[in-house]
Amino acid sequence: MPAPTTAAVEAILADFPDPETGRPLTAMGQVQAVAANAAGISATIGLTSHSAILWPATRARIEERLRTAFPEVPGITVTIGPHDRPPVKLGQLGVEAKSVIAVGSGKGGVGKSTIASSIAIGLALAGSRTGLLDADVYGPSVPHLLGLAGRPQVENGRIVPQVLDVGRSQMPVMSMGFLVPPGEAVVWRGPMLHGAITQMLRDTLWGQLDYLVIDMPPGTGDVALTLSQALPLSGAVVVCTPQDVALLDATKAIAMFRKVNIPLLGMVENMSFFVCPDTGKRYDIFGTGGARRTARELDIPFLGEVPIQIPIREHGDAGRTAANYDDPASRPYFQSICERLVGNLAAAAATKPPMPSLPVL
Ligand SMILES: Nc1ncnc2c1ncn2[C@@H]1O[C@H](COP(=O)(O)OP(=O)(O)OP(=O)(O)O)[C@@H](O)[C@H]1O
Ligand SMILES: [Mg+2]
Repeated sequence: MPAPTTAAVEAILADFPDPETGRPLTAMGQVQAVAANAAGISATIGLTSHSAILWPATRARIEERLRTAFPEVPGITVTIGPHDRPPVKLGQLGVEAKSVIAVGSGKGGVGKSTIASSIAIGLALAGSRTGLLDADVYGPSVPHLLGLAGRPQVENGRIVPQVLDVGRSQMPVMSMGFLVPPGEAVVWRGPMLHGAITQMLRDTLWGQLDYLVIDMPPGTGDVALTLSQALPLSGAVVVCTPQDVALLDATKAIAMFRKVNIPLLGMVENMSFFVCPDTGKRYDIFGTGGARRTARELDIPFLGEVPIQIPIREHGDAGRTAANYDDPASRPYFQSICERLVGNLAAAAATKPPMPSLPVL
């Protein structure tokens, strides 16, 4: 067997897609170093923090591909390092984020805020720069779920968001709940609602983000319309529970997102089933699999399910939603939703024409 050449290794890496853009790793100079001889192959690949949650899986897949191509080479090591891309300013509001993801549903109480917070936390834990905006100005629950409180400071007319420590990341969080005393009723008219959301988007010091996750209020299309006008959303995640009435509302929410041209990134089925902690017996309290079926019928991706678990509710009430990632019984559900979401964003990016590298005048 001849020893593998760097050129042969590079040829294999060339048609490997980048997990952010879906484009070949070689297109943006992401193959940073390759060394190959009969004893081993080592490659260093640069990936963006946007795809951080997919780094381990990407590394494993590249190693597997190289092992298949060079079965006689004993040592194959792929190292992933950071690769920067210029920040993207979105719309007129100047939010710097690569992807903006709205989390909504038709129905109240299905777990949107829990899922939105958990998606943001999962992405931040993996190392993506993530912010969370609570767009539920009537009933903000993100501060409660994350254990954050206090009035934000204003610096040079910009709002300093509260920050949640998530692993090594710091996640900026903004919510009307920081501005309105808890328990106080606020009556919003349509234009005020629009103004409040636009202001939180525009005036918050988000910094440069990979993801801005937006927790939507239940029901009405007002906020979806505001968001669709304010900035180009990557799309919406629709959360629903498995029973027919909830699915009917989810179907309406999907129609509403389509009407305002917000792409659908997928559906999450929350409260899918309950495994009794005493007996280990599974109960499908609201039925199960309905969201997967509805997603297939409506031709949108299914991102995964989350069972009803007592600790999820307890963590939420204790302001410790991030603790769902410390619990081996719940972590895999949230983790795989985040992975599928990021994977689907890359697949969608791959079908779009590449961004011009110079401004088009
Ligand atoms: N999978 C789950 N297991 C157990 N409890 C859950 C689960 N998902 C959500 N909950 C709990 O259900 C309640 C409602 O959740 P959440 O506030 O996330 O829903 P929502 O859809 O955002 O509600 P709203 O429509 O009022 O905004 C919370 O107490 C939360 O902790
Ligand atoms: Mg909510």
